[in-house]
Amino acid sequence: MTNQLFARKPLSLLLEEMKGENRLRRVLGPVQLTALGIGAVIGAGIFVVTGEAANQTAGPALMLSYGVAGIACVFAALCYAEFASMVPVAGSAYTYAYATLGELFAWIIGWDLVLEYAVGAATVASGWSSYFKQVIHPLVGDVPDAIARAPMVYDSMVGKVVSTGSVIDLFAVLIVAVVTAVLVKGIAESASFNATMVFVKVAAVLFVILVGSFYVNPENWTPFAPYGMTGINFFGTHVSGQMDPGGRPIGMLAGAAIIFFAYIGFDSVSTHAEEAKRPQRDVPIGIVASLIICTILYIAVVAVLTGMVPYQQIDRSSGVSSAFQHAGLPWAEVIIASAGVAGITSVLLVMMLSAPRVFLAMSRDGMLPPSFFGAVHPRFRTPWKSTILVGLFVAALSGFLPLGYLLSLTNIGTLLAFVIVCAAVLIMRKKHPEAERPFRCPMVPLVPILGILSCLLLMFSLPAANWWRLGVWLLIGFVIYFLYSRRHSVMARLARAGP
Ligand code: ALA
Repeated sequence: MTNQLFARKPLSLLLEEMKGENRLRRVLGPVQLTALGIGAVIGAGIFVVTGEAANQTAGPALMLSYGVAGIACVFAALCYAEFASMVPVAGSAYTYAYATLGELFAWIIGWDLVLEYAVGAATVASGWSSYFKQVIHPLVGDVPDAIARAPMVYDSMVGKVVSTGSVIDLFAVLIVAVVTAVLVKGIAESASFNATMVFVKVAAVLFVILVGSFYVNPENWTPFAPYGMTGINFFGTHVSGQMDPGGRPIGMLAGAAIIFFAYIGFDSVSTHAEEAKRPQRDVPIGIVASLIICTILYIAVVAVLTGMVPYQQIDRSSGVSSAFQHAGLPWAEVIIASAGVAGITSVLLVMMLSAPRVFLAMSRDGMLPPSFFGAVHPRFRTPWKSTILVGLFVAALSGFLPLGYLLSLTNIGTLLAFVIVCAAVLIMRKKHPEAERPFRCPMVPLVPILGILSCLLLMFSLPAANWWRLGVWLLIGFVIYFLYSRRHSVMARLARAGP
């Protein structure tokens, strides 16, 4: 049994399976790959989460938080690129793990990726709803309370979850329904759609930086770190920095753990390895360049935002666009909110597209029932059953749970995936030094070790309850693995068939 847990899917089998499908054309160069990365990254994180994080967790020091989270991502990104280049087929960390680390780790990563994409999509939908309400406000005024937001929210002043008086975040549910329908019907992933979205988003961000800089009052940057520079706890035991009344860590590092969300998505560049003209060179360039560009833009936006509005007055649900209302530029607020809605929608599409694809890959390996998770619609050619299942799950989460909850859970799940990927690079270098590595992560073991440490540090800067929630999610995953997947997986079948 132990053998099977660590059984690796042979690379030859992976390549064999790929032959059955149409090979993708190698058309993407470094610029397109960087654009893909930026398209998947800029979204609810910068437009929505920044307000809450500046107001409640880090103050103006959120500028540094973005730098810290960006650096942690670069370490993980370099490891991701090596991992991806070893298994030169389209796929995600799940596929790479099956070929390199074995079945159990592949399951953990696959299950964890579903958490990242599905709960991440719910977070994005919740952020989308905040911006959408702003866009329609001039036309319809205030949305009735009952349908305006999730029924509960975490109040840091009292350190408890309190009722909002609302019943459901209806707009979040509706956008999830629309996106699900679009995905079931199938969208041709079009480079021009992505290019337009990247243009709209980057234009909105540059607009915020350039126009907003005229309204900056440097006095608003003092105190720079009102909540301190750290904010770490160890499974509920306070280690360093300040806490809010509910025991949630606050400070610059705690801010980094929250806005880490804004960087999620860069890993999608590696899933395009098969379409890259020169994957060895262009995929790492795409990953690292999109991260560097986003880091610079993010830090500049936060500098402007915290300079325009005293941090305690920054709007918690739509900080960036509301700052322009505060500065007496309501027209700018509408422009930014509209661009924000468009940009956030494209991130939602990518995330809701990805979760069923991970399920599909897992079901092809027999890890999940193929009759459901592998079912492809006869006409639309999409994994429609799992897309609808994911849609229902995302709608329920985004309709009823507060954004802060969803965000922390997404972050801790993604950080765990990064830790595993960094560890995988170290393990593979030791166990299989001979394997071909078209892209080699520089300065091994330093970079993977720094990646593991920085991601762990961010995990410990999140409220402790997230560890328990992550644990419950993984436990459910293990139950499914041991009851179903272990017996039905492709490796189990190969083992039964004998040598
Ligand atoms: N990075 C993505 C966003 O901020 C998930 O929306």
